[in-house]
Amino acid sequence: MRGRDFLTIRDFTHEELCQLVGLAREMKGHPEKYARALKGRALALIFEKPSLRTRVSFDVGIQQLGGFAVTLTQAEINLGKRESIHDVAMNLDRMTQGIMIRTFGHDIVEQMAEYSRVPVINGLTDFSHPCQAIADYMTVLEHKGRLGGIRLAYVGDGNNVANSLIFAGARYGIHVTVASPRGFEPAADVVEWARTQGARTGSTCIVTEDPVEAVRGADVVYTDTWTSMGQEAEADERRRVFRPYQVNSALFAEASADALFMHCLPAHRGEEVTDDIIDSPHSVVFDQAENRLHAQKAIMFSVMP
Ligand code: CP
Ligand code: NVA
Repeated sequence: MRGRDFLTIRDFTHEELCQLVGLAREMKGHPEKYARALKGRALALIFEKPSLRTRVSFDVGIQQLGGFAVTLTQAEINLGKRESIHDVAMNLDRMTQGIMIRTFGHDIVEQMAEYSRVPVINGLTDFSHPCQAIADYMTVLEHKGRLGGIRLAYVGDGNNVANSLIFAGARYGIHVTVASPRGFEPAADVVEWARTQGARTGSTCIVTEDPVEAVRGADVVYTDTWTSMGQEAEADERRRVFRPYQVNSALFAEASADALFMHCLPAHRGEEVTDDIIDSPHSVVFDQAENRLHAQKAIMFSVMP
């Protein structure tokens, strides 16, 4: 994987994704063995949207590997306005060994990758959040002891996080059922891809409008914010549309008795999830957050020169 960009889960095979999760677990268990693995390497972190977990986990992660991060906000580089994506990429690849970018359009990370000679890592776009999916399925593996055959119900917006869970689910052999209101489902081509690829791993991908149907018997119940970054103007309308999709005790009771509750965070308590569920013993949301660190160390170590 050395030298490759990490833009979407679709670009990686089942074997490569299993290797990443395996390495992440090894790094979590034996961090000291990797303390010099990326010694002296510089990673640029570009943020055009806010972040807590992504920012801290990449910064701490590269330091734990012996390297260091340079964080750039939109106010500093004003990507595409002060300077073109092309020119930013051509500058950063002279001074760093990797670029992590969180932005809006997925085409922006694709352009950055096209112009940069160092690997580009997608730290979230409107389309996908691949680092999150690796950390999430690592968390499922830790708690359930397997990935193949796991039944995951994603309840809510068919957004970037849902897309990456669907892609990775197909690769890892996980049955993903998405319950979304009409008009907010994952894109048809995302689901189609998962169904085609899933045929190889034995996984399925189902989309329904009925949250109870999705959650019934599930091993994992996952939700995310109803209003993603950049959609703030739609927040009131979304609160109304998504109200029946709240993960609360009544809905969670439909899942299997030992089901996990998952959320990429930040959570909007009282909206997509109630306190009693996110704070319950079923909830592994802070394990997911911690695993961002380990998963991204594995990704950086695998792709950065
Ligand atoms: N889950 C996640 O990506 O969190 P941040 O937006 O805080 O980085
Ligand atoms: N779907 C959310 C994920 C945040 C980590 C967003 O894009 O805002």
